[in-house]
Amino acid sequence: FESNALDGIRVVISAGPTREAIDPVRYISNHSSGKMGFAIANAAAEAGALTTIIAGPVNLATPENCQRIDVTSAQDMYQSAMQQIGQCDIFIATAAVADYRPATVAEQKIKKNDDTMSIQLTKNIDIVSAVASHSNRPFTVGFAAETQDVERYAKDKMQRKNLDMIVANDVANNNIGFNSDDNAVTIFCRDDDSMAIAQTSKQQLGRLLIAKIASQYKQ
Ligand code: PMT
Repeated sequence: FESNALDGIRVVISAGPTREAIDPVRYISNHSSGKMGFAIANAAAEAGALTTIIAGPVNLATPENCQRIDVTSAQDMYQSAMQQIGQCDIFIATAAVADYRPATVAEQKIKKNDDTMSIQLTKNIDIVSAVASHSNRPFTVGFAAETQDVERYAKDKMQRKNLDMIVANDVANNNIGFNSDDNAVTIFCRDDDSMAIAQTSKQQLGRLLIAKIASQYKQ
């Protein structure tokens, strides 16, 4: 692992979940802890990158030498990502962005008067796709959290979202993926290159991913 592999390169990483408000006290979210994204940010900073984390609501300390922008919803995360594009050479999307948000947010706490209730949902904008299709696009890396057919779905996401690389995460296994300290992934690149990384700590995995991203970025 080269300690100067990303010297002076500007890296932006989205991390954690997003929260989509239902009313002033309730929201829709997921189990992402932000650990994977923060570990990658730590590794990027170690490699000399000028590193910015766009963080959803997580309980983690900011890694050394990283800038941090805190956001709540997918719409906030999208706006921050768009603001960073002009100052970004590599964008790494580890965030577990909520795919849908409540179509309307109730102004007051919703009362439990009915035995059933439904919430209409609206699709959120795809942040990593928007980054990758920007005229001034950075080298763009996505993650794919899948529970089945991991390779096929991950490669399909790389194509559809116009990504340079995708990191496939088999989240059917509870020891890895969401909110665990370890992870195991397979990386797929545009040139059909692929690389599997067996289960290891997210800290170590972050370093291996940054080494691979740095070598692909430089090609
Ligand atoms: O945070 P941890 O607890 O450490 O867990 C890590 C993780 C499992 C969340 C992480 O490794 C991971 O797999 N992140 C991607 C989770 C996800 O939402 O995957 P997806 O297949 O739904 O999305 C594919 C890609 O599109 C991702 O890069 C995602 O950030 C991006 N996306 C998705 C939807 C959306 N509206 N905007 C996006 O940018």
